Amino acid sequence: DNDVENAVEKLQSCTQIVDAARFLRENAAVAFPTETVYGLGANALSNDAVEKIFAAKGRPSDNPLIVHIATKEQLSTVTSDIPAKAEQLMDAFWPGPLTIILPKTDQVASLVTAGLDSVGVRMPDHPVALALIAAAGVPIAAPSANRSGRPSPTTAAHVLADLEGRVAGVVDGGATGVGLESTVIDVTVEPPVVLRPGGITREQLEEVIGPVDLDPSFQAGALETPRAPGMKYTHYAPEGEMWLVDGDEEPVREKMGDMLREAKQHGRKTGVLATTESSDYWQAHPDADVVLSVGSRSDLGEVAHQLYAVLRDFDHHNAQFIVGETFSREGLGMAVMNRLEKAAGGRIQHA
Ligand code: TXA
Ligand code: MG
Repeated sequence: DNDVENAVEKLQSCTQIVDAARFLRENAAVAFPTETVYGLGANALSNDAVEKIFAAKGRPSDNPLIVHIATKEQLSTVTSDIPAKAEQLMDAFWPGPLTIILPKTDQVASLVTAGLDSVGVRMPDHPVALALIAAAGVPIAAPSANRSGRPSPTTAAHVLADLEGRVAGVVDGGATGVGLESTVIDVTVEPPVVLRPGGITREQLEEVIGPVDLDPSFQAGALETPRAPGMKYTHYAPEGEMWLVDGDEEPVREKMGDMLREAKQHGRKTGVLATTESSDYWQAHPDADVVLSVGSRSDLGEVAHQLYAVLRDFDHHNAQFIVGETFSREGLGMAVMNRLEKAAGGRIQHA
């Protein structure tokens, strides 16, 4: 709406944005905030520029990047065809945490799409991101601004911890909102398929375009190879060995307690990923060294918002063995559980 447009226009003349936009036009890599996580951006039309993203992150080159746009006018630069369902999704969820896979144009640098003939596109819902992309005047390829494998950054400090000295700059826009990456949906197939769960839930998508499939790879206990190339890597992981424990409250507490005791016997510093509801219990537990709460079970938005910061915090406390509770997969819980399973490298115990 108008307020947002005015804010974005004002921001475009801020020194930080003007400087960052110039770096982007000169094909350097710059980190910036979005409503999901911080992105590491570069000119999506230049292999030279995009190569700097892969180098800074240590990212495998078979993992394609998302292209960010500020206006719908920029769509024609990156995609040749917009299916009706894509149009409906854009109207409903853009700007916002939804990445739509579309057929790519030749203008998109080949490194962006890792050689695929499709491209992931999204319009972020963050005034700084929109102002920066508009000021740069080109679509901006941007993965999350972390070293490959680490939790995505939700503050500028997280970006610097991973990438200081490896990028031209970071635009600091404070903590991000959603806290988890965008939902990725492929609309080039029928029915459309969610390739990565995120800020927009399956339920929300289905309200707009009817039935959507979920890529089998991120459903509970899946062994399939995911279709979004990035989903196959261990991701979002703290440095300590992390385990999830699934089941009812009492047996879960008992199982987690057993695992913590054994780790302590091996001389390891232990951590518990807890919730508001369980925090007091674990604080009082003799084998739990570091207890960090991700928020209340009754507010998955809060859990999503804090999850990556908490995972990074275990590293600050040098936790070597971490056990975590699980969450329901309803709504945003699908994305939360997907990221937790990756952080744990698939290590799950059933209590
Ligand atoms: O919220 C977000 O999406 C953040 C912010 C910065 O926008 N970006 C982000 O990018 O999470 P990245 O690169 O960390 O994750 C992109 C995901 C990967 O899993 C990648 O494999 C998938 O999207 N992807 C990108 N292009 C694709 C394509 N053409 N086909 C299938 N999957 C694709
Ligand atoms: Mg990432």
